[in-house]
Amino acid sequence: MTTARDGRYDLVVIGSGIAGLYAALQAREHGASVLVVTKGSIDEASTRYAQGGIAAALGPEDSPADHLRDTIEAGAGLVDEAAARILCYEAADRIADLVRYGVRFDTVDGEITLGREAAHSASRIVHARGDGTGLEIELSLSALAQREVTILEHTLASSIVVEDGRAAGIEAFTSTTGERRSFGAGNVVLATGGAGQMYRTTTNPDVSTGDGVALAYAAGAEVMDMEFTQFHPTALVLPGQPVFLISEAVRGEGALLYATDGVRFMERYDARLELAPRDIVTRAEHAEMARTGADHVLLDITDRDGSWLAARFPQIYARCLEAGLDMARDRIPVSPAAHYTMGGVRTNTWGETTVAGLFAVGETACTGVHGANRLASNSLLETMVFAKRMVERLFKAGEGASPDSMMPPALIAGAITLLPALGDHAVPSTDEVRALMWKQVGIIRNGTGLRDTAVRLARWHAGMPPEPFDREGYELRSILVCARLAAEGALRREESRGAHYRTDFPEPRDSWRRHLVFREPEARVEALRDLNRDTLRDERQREVTA
Ligand code: FAD
Ligand code: SIN
Repeated sequence: MTTARDGRYDLVVIGSGIAGLYAALQAREHGASVLVVTKGSIDEASTRYAQGGIAAALGPEDSPADHLRDTIEAGAGLVDEAAARILCYEAADRIADLVRYGVRFDTVDGEITLGREAAHSASRIVHARGDGTGLEIELSLSALAQREVTILEHTLASSIVVEDGRAAGIEAFTSTTGERRSFGAGNVVLATGGAGQMYRTTTNPDVSTGDGVALAYAAGAEVMDMEFTQFHPTALVLPGQPVFLISEAVRGEGALLYATDGVRFMERYDARLELAPRDIVTRAEHAEMARTGADHVLLDITDRDGSWLAARFPQIYARCLEAGLDMARDRIPVSPAAHYTMGGVRTNTWGETTVAGLFAVGETACTGVHGANRLASNSLLETMVFAKRMVERLFKAGEGASPDSMMPPALIAGAITLLPALGDHAVPSTDEVRALMWKQVGIIRNGTGLRDTAVRLARWHAGMPPEPFDREGYELRSILVCARLAAEGALRREESRGAHYRTDFPEPRDSWRRHLVFREPEARVEALRDLNRDTLRDERQREVTA
């Protein structure tokens, strides 16, 4: 093992959500020196906003086999079964790890209580603080990590250093002052979360700009399934206020959905009613909003009393009250919002990407476990299951993947490249990109809109400076890269499947039961590396001269 000095670490982890912190803590248990860089404060991550909980087959009537079946069913024909099996069978052990790290789950008489969420055939959602599961996890892990590993807050990773075909460190800058930093690493882990911010309306926090996908893509790694974004059906979207999630667990406790004209509409769409998979409920709402002309539908849990609601869903109950809505008396206006990035940096079940020394875990990774539509509460679980395996692969003698342990080749369409960028154009505002994505690459898509959008995004991308100067610029570039991957993936995928729905191809097609993989052409990866090297050299030169 190397020692943590002179800016070199065994493991450099980018991101301080559950994936990054859990990986860092696991690596410390093996004696590794670990640096975590994170672009905001330590606890600013999607993780802290997670409400419903973590799926694990812990109940007496439940089994990992049933959890696996539900995961595969929700994923609409694209779930990688081997990876999903690992996910479901290792769930209980990962929950035990969290308990060991100090996370206190909700219990009754000493037994963990299990909630219900859509498309699960059993109550299997472990939760904390009622609807504050993510907050409990984030606060527990960050408190422990601050004692165990080196953490640099407000430090944005801006590129992966690749030497002789292997990730060897990162370039970064301090987001407050712009000061450049660089760190050497035995291995680099992307744990940067999702890309929900590429959409106008999203449950994701500001940090979810898809940086990990953009960093990996620029480093030559493969990116998979970015056309699949999950839209959550029940967000509270009020003018001028941050979007707030109303957990699916509320429907799990019996809440019903009504159109604004009073029709209980899910009866028309799916036999599982309000507990149908998210993609189905979201499209049903979209259709009902078009039918009534309203910008929302209504969620009704008024058969429960206020004290029960305040105990089971303290955050949601309080937020609704702030907005003048009493869940015990009022139906809550809800509408869909971009929620989860199913695609990401392609990895095997050991977190390895297609670039040696570069790993990806959590929402930024694409292990294939979610297929075309993630089953509720499988995300927090995925972060830990594959981070654990990654750390064992790296630091535990005898563990490891064989070089050919990527996902089954038969399901891969073959790596393709993005459309060529077409001349220089004005740099867009982030809001312009997000509005375009919401309209054309959102819940309902079509070929014409996707084609126009893909070209527009390519032009905008060409107008971006190669090395943006500040956090806002970097994040806009990441959003553009992710948006291009999503739009061009959606354009190529001539079918409807899971969260990807096209009016011109409204059915799934067997020929499309495969993944779409994008990879930057080698020549461009080399050019970007040269550019990074030159920019850094020039900056160092300027610093010496000054
Ligand atoms: P995150 O928690 O998003 O952490 C990413 C980290 O990377 C952040 O610290 C960020 O600042 C940092 N970062 C990003 N880019 C850079 C960069 N360039 N340089 C340095 N740092 C960077 N899932 C469930 O399973 N159950 C739930 O109940 C649930 N509820 C949810 C509710 C909400 C409102 C949301 C938004 C999501 C929910 N999810 C839920 C999804 C789940 O929370 C996320 O998928 C999961 O937390 C992702 O964890 P992560 O560690 O991969 O990423
Ligand atoms: C929710 O609580 O509805 C979110 C759960 C999830 O995203 O898995």
